[in-house]
Amino acid sequence: MSRWIGTSFKMTKTRSEAASYAARVRAAVGDGIDGVQPFLIPSATAVSVVADTLGPGSPVLTGVQNAHWDDEGAWTGEISVPQAADAGARLVEIGHSERRAHFAETDDTVRLKTAAALRHGLTPLVCVGESAAARDAGRGADVVRAQAEAALEGQSDPGAVLLAYEPVWAIGEHGRPPRPEEIAPALAALAELPARAVLYGGSVDLRNAPWLLELPGVQGLFVGRAAWDVDAFLDLVALGL
Ligand code: PGA
Repeated sequence: MSRWIGTSFKMTKTRSEAASYAARVRAAVGDGIDGVQPFLIPSATAVSVVADTLGPGSPVLTGVQNAHWDDEGAWTGEISVPQAADAGARLVEIGHSERRAHFAETDDTVRLKTAAALRHGLTPLVCVGESAAARDAGRGADVVRAQAEAALEGQSDPGAVLLAYEPVWAIGEHGRPPRPEEIAPALAALAELPARAVLYGGSVDLRNAPWLLELPGVQGLFVGRAAWDVDAFLDLVALGL
């Protein structure tokens, strides 16, 4: 089974910066790398240029950072899954903690968006993760399991869903890298669910990626800051081999 190695650009990079990055990835990955499934999730403005740069049928998947559950309509500021697909996306990131914290994303909207992605044949990448308070209270694995179960509930094909375990306390510039024993319980809980694969995300970098990839229950890495430089991303892809 392939290891998934991908990055979200979050709210960084112009279209030309994203295109240069994608061109470097295309050149390095060629017809594909055995055992690794790379993916890039740019800002919405750069999705089509990244997908076009990678080319049709590319072994590198392009994704969107969010998509609405409705196919079209009066939802100002949103994009739909069909629109994301039209721009070249094959993955839909759903429920990132930054969206749960700042944009009213809930377990219900995550489930609806997961259903929308599956309905249109795109792969949902559902992010789950506990807060520092939940971790300190010993409830981390329960919170993570409940979020993931809520996303998978009632789905036509839960086995097509990717889960990204991203502890909130590990994400971003104020986060800190995890210790193995802090994330093992949630990874064990997620391994019992019928998802396609479980990725780890949160302060991943070139130093910790090797041991994170060897943790039981980890089938890939979802990287933010450390992969915004394309050389670092390609080094991470090489680690997935
Ligand atoms: P980070 O972000 O690698 O910058 O901590 C991870 C994420 O939000 O997926």
